Amino acid sequence: MKVTVVGAGAVGASCAEYIAIKNFASEVVLLDIKEGYAEGKAMDLMQTASLNGFDTKITGSTSDYSKTAGSDIAVITSGIPRKPGMTREELIGINAGIVKTVSSNLIEHSPNVILIVVSNPMDAMTYLVHKTTNLPKHKIIGMGGALDSARFKYRLAEAMEAPISDIDGMVIGGHSDKGMVPLISHATRNSIRVSEFLSEDRLNQVAEDTKVGGATLTKLLGTSAWYAPGAAVSGLVQAIACDQKKMFTCSIYLEGEYGLNDICIGVPVILGKNGIERIVDIPLSDAEKAKMQESAEGVTKTNSLLEL
Ligand code: LAC
Repeated sequence: MKVTVVGAGAVGASCAEYIAIKNFASEVVLLDIKEGYAEGKAMDLMQTASLNGFDTKITGSTSDYSKTAGSDIAVITSGIPRKPGMTREELIGINAGIVKTVSSNLIEHSPNVILIVVSNPMDAMTYLVHKTTNLPKHKIIGMGGALDSARFKYRLAEAMEAPISDIDGMVIGGHSDKGMVPLISHATRNSIRVSEFLSEDRLNQVAEDTKVGGATLTKLLGTSAWYAPGAAVSGLVQAIACDQKKMFTCSIYLEGEYGLNDICIGVPVILGKNGIERIVDIPLSDAEKAKMQESAEGVTKTNSLLEL
């Protein structure tokens, strides 16, 4: 199993590290445009192999896509991250050009690749890849919901003073401060609805904290987060590489599911060796439906800024 990670910045390197530590891939290629940077990160990571006990071979390359040839899965993290006070949508101008070039280079060298898009604004970048490449829709996956759901579980556990392993919950919708839809009515602690443990006000606070999860970190760190994004990507990569048939929220191209068309947005899917094996189309409450609709309008507005 060969995995390429484009962009050796904080998210790309964390993602390569988590993939390696889980020891399921034979090879990870890290690629960056900055001379020597990916090579350096790859070498540093390889020097953790005997310490952390993995056999995955990590190599780095400066913009040489021939090194990525034959990749089964490729992750696109390239582009600029947001600075404090910026929205993900503001990155579209620069990142769209980068994502278009990167995806076309990747597909040229690995025609059967499954692409995972991380660059922001992620739903629009996933849509761009869908519109500008000939990859089938089950091979184009946007990473956002897996991260947002992890942040939701973190906030729920914090509010309930419960261990995270007791918590289950999911965030659907767009990967943006306003667009995320934490599904509170479906969230549970050991199969008991979270509303049994927390007041409506506290749950609303959890939802709000979840939605601005990335922005909160950007403010604290001065740039966007990397550990949880890297871990979320590695979870998707592992589910595909190991054909786990695991369920995550991912941004994918919809054709009627959730009443939406011609859009990439976060919905629950089953991931396995073919990429998206199945879209899980669950019934939503009227309030959740309305929030999903509003979220989709926001994503469509961002998509309209793309030059397709
Ligand atoms: C975040 C970025 C990866 O939410 O969008 O941290």
